[in-house]
Amino acid sequence: MRIAVIGAAGYVGGELLRLALQHPDITEVVATSRSQAGRPIAEVHPALGALTDARFAGLTPAEASRGQDVVFLALEHGESSRVAGEVFDAAPGLVVDLAADFRVRDLRLHESYYGVHAAPEFVSRFTYALADVLGTELRGAEALAAPGCFATAAQLALYPLRNAGVADIPALFGVTGSSGAGVHPRPTTHHPARANNLFAYGVLHHRHDAEVLQAWRGWTASPSATARLMTHSGPFVRGIHLTMHATVAPEFAADAGARYAGAYAGRPFVRVTEQPPELTHAVGTNVALVHAAGNGVTGEVQVMVALDNLIKGAGGQALQAMNLALGLDEAAGLRLAAPFPC
Ligand SMILES: NC(=O)c1ccc[n+]([C@@H]2O[C@H](COP(=O)([O-])OP(=O)(O)OC[C@H]3O[C@@H](n4cnc5c(N)ncnc54)[C@H](OP(=O)(O)O)[C@@H]3O)[C@@H](O)[C@H]2O)c1
Repeated sequence: MRIAVIGAAGYVGGELLRLALQHPDITEVVATSRSQAGRPIAEVHPALGALTDARFAGLTPAEASRGQDVVFLALEHGESSRVAGEVFDAAPGLVVDLAADFRVRDLRLHESYYGVHAAPEFVSRFTYALADVLGTELRGAEALAAPGCFATAAQLALYPLRNAGVADIPALFGVTGSSGAGVHPRPTTHHPARANNLFAYGVLHHRHDAEVLQAWRGWTASPSATARLMTHSGPFVRGIHLTMHATVAPEFAADAGARYAGAYAGRPFVRVTEQPPELTHAVGTNVALVHAAGNGVTGEVQVMVALDNLIKGAGGQALQAMNLALGLDEAAGLRLAAPFPC
């Protein structure tokens, strides 16, 4: 299988390359970059030196997409909209976008978080690819919009509650590492500002709210249902730790652990744990660790999710969704154990 990763010099692109170069069904990988064209991939992503001596190609998205089985777009927000037309015209077998451009079907909802959509005509071609929930329903999709990292953690916490009689607005408190902000340094990702610090951002209006609301409203069949992300930047590089609090029917809360285990039974990349998960047990893997606790008297549930933002929240989930869309083994290329301690 031949694939192209467009935007391969970024963090998500680098992680996709690492996984794709070890995927048993992928035989050829084209990696493009505007700024790094011609440079060895291993100079930009030193950890990939053991896997490849190839160089970044300076191809346009159209050139890179021609003749490919799968094209991954790992571009900054807005760039996917700019290049989607030429990518589709090149007719690759499958397009997988990792940016937010095509995640939200309702244009009004999208635009209330992201502003005017630059390529609304392509939105309906994409299937929102929350792989751990949709599973084989992704088979045959022509284009996949990979969920955001916070949005993945939030939705995995919310999904088992869709029939739980939720009585309030689920509150989703999450902390992300600095790699969530991409390869280009910014004041909020600079080491001295970040290393011993913790701060909130996107207060009451984080962009991932849009896709979380889309899913939650769909699952509950309630167009006005809401859920609230509370996003924070933490003093670590990789991973997201999210804690959800909600009030549900007491009989659900009394049995919360078993209900969550049941909701994800048979899903290879969600592990429902007996204890609250630790970030370092998920980092480096495609697994989301989920723990649910409940109070059968008050109906309160508290659910923790730990995942790797660049794998489960980006490149790993995208490959998992690709495997599902193409009818491959869902876990191909994704059986990763975490290095610990890290
Ligand atoms: N970081 C995360 O945890 C995370 C998780 C989930 C989803 N995402 C999403 O995934 C996307 C990539 O994220 P990231 O963190 O990897 O960002 P990033 O580190 O800023 O990388 C984006 C890359 O896109 C490249 N690029 C832009 N336009 C290009 C073009 N026309 N052709 C080739 N390369 C191009 C840029 O490199 P050149 O300038 O060299 O071309 C840059 O290296 C974003 O939309 C982000 O929201 C990120």
